[in-house]
Amino acid sequence: MILAAGAGTRMKSQTPKVLHRILGQPMLRYPLDAALGLRPERVVIVAGNNHEVIRDALSTPDVTYAVQDRPLGTADALIRALPVLKNLDTVVVLNGDAPLLTAKTLQSFLKYHYKSTNSVSFISFIAEDAAQYGRVIRDSDGNLQRIVELSDLNDKEQSVKEVNSGVYAIDARALSLLKNIERNKKKGEYYLTDIVGIALKRGLRTNAWQADESEFLGVNTRAEFSAATKALKERIVWHWLNEGVDFIDADSVFIEPTVMIAPETVIYPNVYLGGKTVIGKNCIIYPNVRVADSIIKNGSVIKDSTVMEGAVVGPLAEVGPFARLRPGSIIGSAKVGNFVELKNSSLGNGAKAMHLSYIGDATVGRDVNIGAGTITCNYDGQSKHPTVIEDGVFIGSDTQLIAPVKVGKGSYIGAGSTITRNVPADALAISRTAQKNIEGWALKRKRLKDAGKKR
Ligand code: UD1
Ligand code: CA
Repeated sequence: MILAAGAGTRMKSQTPKVLHRILGQPMLRYPLDAALGLRPERVVIVAGNNHEVIRDALSTPDVTYAVQDRPLGTADALIRALPVLKNLDTVVVLNGDAPLLTAKTLQSFLKYHYKSTNSVSFISFIAEDAAQYGRVIRDSDGNLQRIVELSDLNDKEQSVKEVNSGVYAIDARALSLLKNIERNKKKGEYYLTDIVGIALKRGLRTNAWQADESEFLGVNTRAEFSAATKALKERIVWHWLNEGVDFIDADSVFIEPTVMIAPETVIYPNVYLGGKTVIGKNCIIYPNVRVADSIIKNGSVIKDSTVMEGAVVGPLAEVGPFARLRPGSIIGSAKVGNFVELKNSSLGNGAKAMHLSYIGDATVGRDVNIGAGTITCNYDGQSKHPTVIEDGVFIGSDTQLIAPVKVGKGSYIGAGSTITRNVPADALAISRTAQKNIEGWALKRKRLKDAGKKR
């Protein structure tokens, strides 16, 4: 059960708190993945009136939604979800705003819960700064008594360092206790935390399982959101360090959890890798590169300040500096240089487009040389048209290819040409106007100017 119906007021945002994105994923995705790691019978997300928005953002099957139309507290949220849960054994409750929890920790906790035969177990931790967390109150012998929320703390309880993580495992038979929870007088909410004190009073086995603080940061404010992002980012970079990826400055690199990287690849500072990106072995990603949903095959080099979205390059490709590969760009062992934009185009092995070009909706063969400033004019104002450039073609600088057009195998295009018709194989196409030299023109101009000055 993932509680995600809170108002999220402290974020001061129109977006539901649990949908704020951390490294490309809605925050709620993280506890959801941890929950799915338990292979549960069922996952229920308790959402508020914005449940449709949440459903659309996650678009995950195998999740049941329960609706809590008014945020009347965490206990009320659980009560709203009970009708969905039939033939229940144990409910594990997670907070939608705690993205750092791992499936591994959750598994250990659940193992503890079953072994201990507790009716209610929850995860507590010693907080460096107990801040807004509920405090775990124990008697002088250390016996658990109850959980007290921030607004209800007395002076002595204020200094308690052991806090509630918001993760619980509750035996189905103890769920009837929920109806004994009273509305908190100060906040007007039903607190799930009260189940601990109530269960203990009834003599039901109830215990806290102490864990390390690092996985339980609850996100209530923008500052906590930023801290959670930083922690997840570091966790991911550490993972890839351990897998053999080389970072020049691990602190400045962002890698979304959906990315894969093979060993021996070197990543320079200020790189952002996102979406379903896969990077092969022995690649080099130079500074200030952003890669989204792209495949970079073994041994490819992506030079500074390049943007790649939905592209496939390599093996042994060279891209950038300052290149832009838009969706559908597929290049083999080819080179794309500075200020070159590619869209929905392929470049065969050995092809080169090194300077200042736009190549859109084009199929470019092997060993083609595309001169500086070449442009495929693929758009006539209404629709897009293809350009085909066959193997071994040499395109002179500043050529415009008016699509649809085909340039045949092995042909040449003279610099400065505007190509409007197909070029046959092995031909030379040239369309610029013939050069005219006017002898003495500059001298004549100078003389006229000098005469004007004297007057
Ligand atoms: C809660 C706990 C606190 C614990 C902390 C850990 C309670 C009363 N307090 O406090 O002891 O230390 O989490 O992070 O449970 N939610 C609903 N419906 C509601 C209210 C909240 O679904 O009516 C959801 C929220 O979306 C959130 C979660 O429950 O995901 C926790 O609610 P929140 O208001 O953030 O509780 P905290 O003050 O953080
Ligand atoms: Ca919270």
